[in-house]
Amino acid sequence: MVVPVGFTTAAATDNGAAGESTIIVNALNLTRAYRDDGAYHPAVQDVSLQVASGEFVALMGPSGCGKSTLLNMLGGIDRPDRGQVTVAGQSIERLSETRLALFRRRHVGIVFQFFNLIHNLDVRTNIELPGLLGGAAASAVRSHARELMESLDIADLAGKMPGQLSGGQRQRVAIARALINRPSVLLADEPTGALDQENGRAVLRLFQRLNREERQTIIMVTHDPKVAGYAGRIVVMQDGRLAEESRPAEQEMGRLAARLLGVRG
Ligand SMILES: Nc1ncnc2c1ncn2[C@@H]1O[C@H](COP(=O)(O)OP(=O)(O)O)[C@@H](O)[C@H]1O
Ligand SMILES: [Mg+2]
Repeated sequence: MVVPVGFTTAAATDNGAAGESTIIVNALNLTRAYRDDGAYHPAVQDVSLQVASGEFVALMGPSGCGKSTLLNMLGGIDRPDRGQVTVAGQSIERLSETRLALFRRRHVGIVFQFFNLIHNLDVRTNIELPGLLGGAAASAVRSHARELMESLDIADLAGKMPGQLSGGQRQRVAIARALINRPSVLLADEPTGALDQENGRAVLRLFQRLNREERQTIIMVTHDPKVAGYAGRIVVMQDGRLAEESRPAEQEMGRLAARLLGVRG
């Protein structure tokens, strides 16, 4: 089904968002393949996905099923072989590299499993850098960075170097950096994959708070049903395709997700 951008839907508001919502990410028939030993391996096949503004979506499935490849296409990090991606009203699959970089900086915040902080810059500068590169006034970037650090409980780490931080602290810095340009969508690829349980839970609760209180749209990749259970909607991938989708009550999510995966795995 083709859902044009700007299409409003009541069905996409089950995660607590009131009223009607706008489709902020619209992927249509995305296909991406890799060549390996001369053979052609489809990583994502004909996937269509619409995400409404204010949703928290978990993209779940076993290792190698195409989650990261799909997420990277949604964020303009990778290009589809076929299909279309529209984010915040901008069709991105044909943008030049320069325009795509500008687009990503303005509209997409990205959090990775291994944080990817710049090791020789302090915490404050890591967070501020994408804001300064985006051309915003230094004073505005600085005050927003301070706000984010306070809200993420890392204000006292501002002058520290990434190497001096724990994994949980590094991930909170990475999240602050991802939010500095007030992105239309926050993408996270296995954001708790390198953290212990306690720090993982803290990151997931933080995502829930950002989603509920700031209406931040979040798309999070995970292979772990327990992690997916923090989202408002779970989309399951299998062999490069979308397999199942669910929006049950939150406490049921993890169990249902595990069952879906179990049945198909
Ligand atoms: N750069 C690449 N070159 C070749 N094959 C790749 C590349 N990236 C991913 N793949 C393959 O595409 C498939 C999907 O990978 P990926 O999207 O990383 O899955 P997931 O994130 O679900 O683990 C896998 O079979 C993987 O081996
Ligand atoms: Mg992956």
